[in-house]
Amino acid sequence: MNPPIRLGVIGTGRIGRLHTEHLALRISGAKVAAVSDVVLAAAEKCAADFGVPSATSDHRRLLDDPAINAVVICSSTDTHAGLIAEAAAAGKHIFCEKPIALELAAIDRALAAVAQAGVKLQIGFNRRFDANYRRVAELIRQGRLGDPHLLRITSRDPAPPPITYVKVSGGLFLDMMIHDFDMARFLIGSEVDEVYTLAAVRVDPAIGQAGDVDTAVVALQFENGVIGTIDNSRRAVFGYDQRVEVFGAKGMAETSNNYPNSVVVSGPEAIARDLPLNFFLDRYIDSYVAELTEFVRCVAQDRPPPVTGIDGRRPVQIGMAARRSLDLHRPVKVAEIQ
Ligand SMILES: NC(=O)c1ccc[n+]([C@@H]2O[C@H](COP(=O)([O-])OP(=O)(O)OC[C@H]3O[C@@H](n4cnc5c(N)ncnc54)[C@H](O)[C@@H]3O)[C@@H](O)[C@H]2O)c1
Repeated sequence: MNPPIRLGVIGTGRIGRLHTEHLALRISGAKVAAVSDVVLAAAEKCAADFGVPSATSDHRRLLDDPAINAVVICSSTDTHAGLIAEAAAAGKHIFCEKPIALELAAIDRALAAVAQAGVKLQIGFNRRFDANYRRVAELIRQGRLGDPHLLRITSRDPAPPPITYVKVSGGLFLDMMIHDFDMARFLIGSEVDEVYTLAAVRVDPAIGQAGDVDTAVVALQFENGVIGTIDNSRRAVFGYDQRVEVFGAKGMAETSNNYPNSVVVSGPEAIARDLPLNFFLDRYIDSYVAELTEFVRCVAQDRPPPVTGIDGRRPVQIGMAARRSLDLHRPVKVAEIQ
């Protein structure tokens, strides 16, 4: 049997703990050798919880360790681009959470460092690994829907994040809708040429005071002629609302929400069921395992990862175009954003 791929996880907050748990307990062929967090207590707790032998507050100890093959970057967004460049220079393969950065120049520097070092880079667009969306993508690739004409993505959170998070997140388009821009490119297999945005503050005025919106529709014109819409809300009172529809010349594919059970209760006044799985950690749990399994396999088998640096860059560019469209009240070509 081949030796396991030895990984270091940088950042052990919400998503870093989840990835560490999966790599340590659920993914064969992977071993988490060390975790780091600027808050040492967070790294130590994560290490203790998931049986990781080493915890540190200094990520450079992971990068200097010749026994570590790859790093998983799960720290705050503003650290990603710098850490990618450092990890690449240290010769480590890299899995990095989205977004790479909130500025294209920083993304380009990080991607240049990866190219120069010749290491692998996979971006954490986990929804591509969700069984529903994979099936829709497969139907499109197989031609079962015919030539796609329309794409509709609905993506609504159960509740807004804290205002402190909203202020540093990059805003709805770069923090939340970025997943939907990636899904749009993934499903349609063509680049977005132009966007037009309508957006408002309908959920919480504090989000508006922080300079962001909480409700938005973005219309997308793809280079291959497909027309798409994405709608986001920061608050759906019935839970996490995540659906996709692709309408084509030969038919249509649509996904529904995922539920904790399939029980339907019929009564004299209504037929009811429980609410959908509440948020991303529940709804997309399998996709997080699948994306890291694929990353580990790519490193082990020396294959290129399926979600590339360009896949990380393009949705940021589309998100910036969407924001500019809102600000200028006009359609914006994605190529305007450089
Ligand atoms: N793919 C997804 O569905 C998904 C979901 C959640 C978060 N994310 C992304 O993951 C990243 C982290 O999000 P989170 O919700 O886990 O945030 P979080 O605030 O819970 O955790 C971030 C952690 O990084 C640590 N940190 C900051 N700078 C560091 C550094 N230089 N070295 C080591 N540790 C450092 C912080 O102390 C904190 O513990 C964000 O970029 C976010 O966009 C992606």
